[in-house]
Amino acid sequence: MGANRVLAGDPVAGRVALQTYGCHSCHLIPGVTGANSLVGPPLIGWAERSYIAGSLPNEPAYLVEWIRFPQAIEPGNAMPNLGVTEEDALNMAAYLYTLQRNQSWYAAATDLLRFDH
Ligand code: HEC
Repeated sequence: MGANRVLAGDPVAGRVALQTYGCHSCHLIPGVTGANSLVGPPLIGWAERSYIAGSLPNEPAYLVEWIRFPQAIEPGNAMPNLGVTEEDALNMAAYLYTLQRNQSWYAAATDLLRFDH
């Protein structure tokens, strides 16, 4: 998984959209205020992940699909379809792909979560 992904989205707008759509009510998302919930998986180091929800390859087009239509991809999973527009999903994806494992917040977040890896 390459760290430098070319995306059409705007990561600054994406960070705002991650809050306005309420993603932070279920996910820990570094750099997004109030995003410290553990209902869904933490999105730490997203750029270095291999899979989305354990099933799709972590590529931009699939991530946009997941953000918009998680119930179509995995019916019955706990993440609802939130009516995200394609543009907002692209922006969110652009932000998520800025998240690296080696950022300074990572140490604090892993301490918080007591990750072993
Ligand atoms: C009600 C809680 C909830 C909300 C709100 C929610 N999610 Fe999720 N999300 C989940 C759950 C639960 C999963 C795990 C699904 C699975 O693995 O089947 C998940 C999975 C994901 C994944 C894949 C995580 C991984 O480790 O593979 C991403 C990326 C993601 N969500 C992004 C978002 C974005 C962006 C939003 C806002 C548009 C959002 N989520 C809103 C609960 C939520």
